[in-house]
Amino acid sequence: MNGDSGEKTQKSGQHQFQAEVTELLNLMVHSVYSETDVFLRELISNASDACDKVRYEAIANPSLLAGDDKLAIRLRPDATAKTLTIADNGIGMDRQELIDNLGTLARSGTKAFLKGLKDAKDGLGLIGQFGVGFYAAFMVADRIVVTSRRAGAAEAWTWTSQGGAGFEVAPAGKAEAARIGRGTEIVLHLKEEAARYLQPYEVERIVHTYSEHILFPIELIDEKGEARQVNAASALWQRPKTELKPEDYTQAYRSIAMAFDEPALTLHYKVEGRQAYAVLLFVPTQPPFDLADPGRKGRVKLYVRRVYITDDADLLPAYLRFVRGVVDSEDLPLNLSREMLQNNPQVRQIRNGLIGRIVSELESTANKDAEAYGKIWSAFGPILKEGLYEDHERRTQLLALARFATTAGETPRTLKDYVADLKLNQTEIYYLVGDSLDRLKANPKLEAARARGVEVLLLADPIDAFWTTLPQEFDGKPLKSLSQGDVDFGLIPRLDTEKKTEDKVKASDDASILEAVKGALGEKVADVKPSTRLTESASCLVAGAQGRDRELERLLARQNRGSAARPILELNMTHALVRFVGAAQKDGRFEDVQDLASLLLDQAHILDGEMPSDPAAFSKRLNNLVLRGMRPE
Ligand SMILES: Nc1ncnc2c1ncn2[C@@H]1O[C@H](COP(=O)(O)OP(=O)(O)O)[C@@H](O)[C@H]1O
Ligand SMILES: [Mg+2]
Repeated sequence: MNGDSGEKTQKSGQHQFQAEVTELLNLMVHSVYSETDVFLRELISNASDACDKVRYEAIANPSLLAGDDKLAIRLRPDATAKTLTIADNGIGMDRQELIDNLGTLARSGTKAFLKGLKDAKDGLGLIGQFGVGFYAAFMVADRIVVTSRRAGAAEAWTWTSQGGAGFEVAPAGKAEAARIGRGTEIVLHLKEEAARYLQPYEVERIVHTYSEHILFPIELIDEKGEARQVNAASALWQRPKTELKPEDYTQAYRSIAMAFDEPALTLHYKVEGRQAYAVLLFVPTQPPFDLADPGRKGRVKLYVRRVYITDDADLLPAYLRFVRGVVDSEDLPLNLSREMLQNNPQVRQIRNGLIGRIVSELESTANKDAEAYGKIWSAFGPILKEGLYEDHERRTQLLALARFATTAGETPRTLKDYVADLKLNQTEIYYLVGDSLDRLKANPKLEAARARGVEVLLLADPIDAFWTTLPQEFDGKPLKSLSQGDVDFGLIPRLDTEKKTEDKVKASDDASILEAVKGALGEKVADVKPSTRLTESASCLVAGAQGRDRELERLLARQNRGSAARPILELNMTHALVRFVGAAQKDGRFEDVQDLASLLLDQAHILDGEMPSDPAAFSKRLNNLVLRGMRPE
C-alpha cells in the first residue's frame, strides 16, 4: 500500500464504507419500511454477544472482568439531547475492530440478503425477517457515535458516522474514555420521525417483544439516572415446563433465533444421568435466511452452566440446520476450545440424543397433525432429504418422514401410502428425477407406468438427484429410477387390456431397426434398445444401470463437475416413426434413416428439457422430413 495515503487516512481518521455497506445504507435510509423497531433488537443482540465474549475470554484471563464483573446492557433515552444510548460492558472493540466490524459486511448471509432485497419486489419486508445487524440503526438515526474500549486495553476509540459513504475513527475524548471502563457505548441521534424511541415505555415494549430472554440484565435508565431492569434475563430453558406459557416460548424463540415468526415445533426437556443438559429447540415456520449458506452450518447455541460458549459446535447435522435454540450442559468443561468440541465424546453423545429427539418429534407431529407436519415438510423437506444421503443410520426413519409429489394425485404422499397401493406383481417403488414438477409430469418415461396405473414419485428438488444415487429401499421394496437401467413392468397388468400393440411387433424387424439407428447415431449414444417404459412417445434417453441418473449428470455438468456419460437411446418399437426407420432401411433410403435416427435422438433430448446438440441441424432435418413427406410420390 502507498505509505503516504495510508498515513493521511490514519491522521484524518476518515474511512470509506465497503461498497455493499453503502448500498445497504442507501436502501435503509430510503426505505419506507415501517417496522424500524428491529434496530434495537440488533443492537441489544450485539451487546449481549459482547458480554458473552468477555465472559468467555475471562475464563482463561479473569483480569478482564476485574473491577466490573456484573455484565449488563443499559438503555438511556434522553429527550433533551434527542438521543438513545445503548451501552454494554462486554468485550469492546479496538480501533481496527471498529474499522473492520462497523465498516464492512462481515456476515456471509448479509450479502445473500442484500441480493434478495434487490431482487424481491417486496424486498423491504425482508429487513424484518433477517435483521441487518448494526446498520439497522441508520433506519432511526442520522448520526451515530460509537465509543468503545476493548477489554484490557488502555485506550478507547470513537467511531462516528452520518451514514452516507464513510465514517471517522479517532481516539475517544477524555470524558468518554473515563466513562467507558470496558465495552461499547452507542449513541443514536434520532431522526425526527423516530422520536418515539425517546419514550421509555416504547423502549421497554420493544425489549419485551424481542429481547426478553437475553441472558444479561437490560436496564432502562430514567431521567434521574436510576436503573430498572426490564427483561426477565433468566435462562428460560432451565425453568420447568409447567411454569411456561406458549407466549413465553414464542418470545424465547424470537429472541434466541432473532426471528419474527412463530415456532412450528418446540422441544423443551432436560436430560439427567451420565450427562446432564437442558434443551430448548425450535423448528421455525419460515425458512431462516442462512439455510442457503454454502457452509450448511447449524446455529444451535451451546451453553455450559449458563455461560454461552459457541453456536459453532456442530450440535446438529447439516440436514437439521433449520432447527434453532439452546443446549445448556452441566458437565462440559468451560474452557473447551472449538477444536476440542469437534472431537469431544460428550458433545457427540449430546448430538446423538438431539437428533433422535428431533426426528421422533417430527414423527409424532406427522402422526398427530398431518397439516402442521405438511407445512414443516414444505418449508424444510429439501433440507431434511440431505439426511437420506448423509445419515445412513436414520435413512429409513427419514424416508418415512418424507412427503412426495407423485403421479397419483395432487396430495403429497408417504412411502407408506405408496406401498399400500402397490399394483399386482409390483415389487419396486418407481421414481423419476427432474428439475421441474411440470416437466416431470409430461415426461414420456411415465407412459408405461401410467398405462398400468403404477404410481411414480416425482422428484424435483435438486437434492433428489443425490440421495437417489445410494441404494434406497422402503419396507423391503427397492427404489428404482425410471430413467436408469432396464425397467420391467412385464408382470404388472395393463389397465387397457385390448390395446396390446406392444407385443404385436415382429422381433426380426426390431433387430434391424435398432441396428440401423445405432449405426446412424454412432458415438452419440452408448446403445439403442427397445423401450419398456414408452407407450405413446417414440423415444427417450436413459442412463445405464451402473451409470449415474441422467438428472444428476446434468446437474454435475452444469457445475462443470465431470462430463456426462453417453446415454442409452430407447425406442418405442410400436411407434410409427420408429417403424418408418425399418421401411426406409429396407428401401435403401439411407438419408431418411439418418434423419429419422437423429430426430429420434433430438426429440428425446427435448423431452428431457434439454436442447438438441445442434439446434440448426435439428430444424433442418425436421423440415427435410416434412417436405419429403408432403411431396406427392
Ligand atoms: N456492542 C458491541 N460490542 C462489541 N462488538 C460489537 C458490538 N456491536 C457490534 N460489534 C461488532 O460488530 C460486528 C457486526 O455486528 P452486526 O452488524 O450486528 O453483525 P453480527 O452481529 O451478525 O456479527 C459484530 O460481529 C461485532 O464483532
Ligand atoms: Mg448483530
